[in-house]
Amino acid sequence: MAGLYLPVLYGTVREPRHSLKVARFVLQRLTLRPDVETRLFDPRDLPFGNLVQREWEMDPAPEAVSAFVQEMGRADGFVVVTPEYNYGIPGALKNLLDHVYDEWNRKPFGIVTAGGVSGGLRAADQLRQVVSGLGAVVVPVHVSVPFVQESFDEDGPKLHREVWVARLEQFFGDLEWYARALQAARARA
Ligand SMILES: Cc1cc2nc3c(=O)[nH]c(=O)nc-3n(C[C@H](O)[C@H](O)[C@H](O)COP(=O)(O)O)c2cc1C
Repeated sequence: MAGLYLPVLYGTVREPRHSLKVARFVLQRLTLRPDVETRLFDPRDLPFGNLVQREWEMDPAPEAVSAFVQEMGRADGFVVVTPEYNYGIPGALKNLLDHVYDEWNRKPFGIVTAGGVSGGLRAADQLRQVVSGLGAVVVPVHVSVPFVQESFDEDGPKLHREVWVARLEQFFGDLEWYARALQAARARA
């Protein structure tokens, strides 16, 4: 089967980055999927700054920005891993998404959220709206991680690892289904 490129977009620059443990676990599991290429993109490494111009309006765009946009252009879909801040998504994530447009279009987004008791459910709802604004689609399966500060460490989930692995497999399967369907539809268009 043709390969899929499914980058993982991490949603925050805030220290001490408890949710990065979730992003790394997602990346590690996604890397094990056959026919999938992936890598983690961290807004801390991307010199976007607050939105002044979108990438295609910059003259010239910084090399790191162009390189990022090129990678998004060749992607077949995305996994966003983000914490919830005050019932919403972090500004860093919204800012990153707003700098790009065409490269998100008609591609699937899988959402993984982390938070306190709610597991970031409200951030996920907000992100669904934002993804629609980008002309992209959200896959139905969503993964949410409650009490991220206590439930994950550097090795991933501290408890019920097999449950998290199974949930992610279902999530990846859904994302890959949409990625292949939309890849074929874009190729036909
Ligand atoms: C500014 C701020 C707002 C927060 N708001 C929420 C919230 O609305 N819902 C929630 O479940 N957790 C909230 N939290 C808790 C975070 O989800 C939790 O601290 C988590 O560790 C954040 O991930 P991070 O360490 O990668 O930033 C908030 C944390 C911060 C710093």
